[in-house]
Amino acid sequence: MEESKRNLLDEEAKASLDIWRYVFGFADIAAAKCAIDLKIPEAIENHPSQPVTLAELSGAVSASPSHLHRIMRFLVHQGVFKEVPTKDGLATGYTNTPLSRRMMITKRDGKSLAPFVLFETSPELLAPWLRLSSVVSSPANGSHPPPFDTVHGKDLWALAEDNPCFNDVINEAMACHTRLVVPRVAAACHDLFEGVATVVDVGGCTGETLAILVKEFPWIKGFNFDLPHVIEVAQVLDGVENVGGDMFDSVPKCDNVFIKNIEELQRGCPTKYRESVDSGIRNQRPEKDHDSEDRDEKLEQVRLMLDMGMMAHTSTGKERTLKEWDFVLNEAGFARYEVRDIDDVQCVIIAYR
Ligand SMILES: C[S@@+](CC[C@H](N)C(=O)[O-])C[C@H]1O[C@@H](n2cnc3c(N)ncnc32)[C@H](O)[C@@H]1O
Repeated sequence: MEESKRNLLDEEAKASLDIWRYVFGFADIAAAKCAIDLKIPEAIENHPSQPVTLAELSGAVSASPSHLHRIMRFLVHQGVFKEVPTKDGLATGYTNTPLSRRMMITKRDGKSLAPFVLFETSPELLAPWLRLSSVVSSPANGSHPPPFDTVHGKDLWALAEDNPCFNDVINEAMACHTRLVVPRVAAACHDLFEGVATVVDVGGCTGETLAILVKEFPWIKGFNFDLPHVIEVAQVLDGVENVGGDMFDSVPKCDNVFIKNIEELQRGCPTKYRESVDSGIRNQRPEKDHDSEDRDEKLEQVRLMLDMGMMAHTSTGKERTLKEWDFVLNEAGFARYEVRDIDDVQCVIIAYR
């Protein structure tokens, strides 16, 4: 058979399986959410004997063994948990993996993103994903309300203001991401905080970022700035003042401005934020070996997923390439900027007046 024909048949065979990822792609996150809801990773971690048999696990999380078996079979297949022989070799049991430990809702270790999974799988966040086509088919850029607003009749922050439980879900998700990323930012940017007296975190949520920064750099005074309904539930911290307001009106004037994950800013960088530290997207890596190419490919996939999330949940937010950031920062009047790697999906952009 000639090569082009063989390739076509291979592609057909691959497609006949790949299409099922789109039929049941949600199964991945639904099963992970189930594990988080039932605190399965915690039940395994805290069990006195390892590995944990199905009978032991069902008892620990009060679940029906037959249903739990199916959930665990799926998650073991996906590499979330491991199934290994028990010590006597007569049965099998489950153990955690680095991935399932990142699904511990009770763990605040700077690795778990379980609250983020629960936020993204909340009914409020899931529904807009199903309306992406409405925004894409809108004739002019930005003329159609974002899918989130179409579904809920208001934007994310207005919904959070009206619904304190949902507000908590958002705040927990942001806080766990902050615990993951901000220590890396602090390590990579130590020099930027030397000799700095005041730092404002714009859209600082409940203050998790500044809690980390003032601990690392105790000489700074932090201003945690966010919408009033968020500031109402913010942490009270030594060395940090909580300030409620709208960043489009004004923000506390400080030596340094810290901005992390602010979709609103992705509309463009207002000149009033000159001199800022922001997380952004980077699309190039200087050196490539086999492992780094594989990692780059995975990072790229996460970044593209983040961009889809922006489209589903924000009005004009987008994940920018470095080239796009270059344009925005120049337009905003920054004299220069630099990008620092924090060995994560995101990186730090430091813009100077
Ligand atoms: C995606 S969260 C990021 C929170 C935090 N910076 C982080 O990365 O964990 C965006 C934050 O911006 C706040 N925010 C949205 N619009 C705002 C506005 N107009 N003025 C001040 N804060 C705002 C939200 O309340 C929310 O806490």
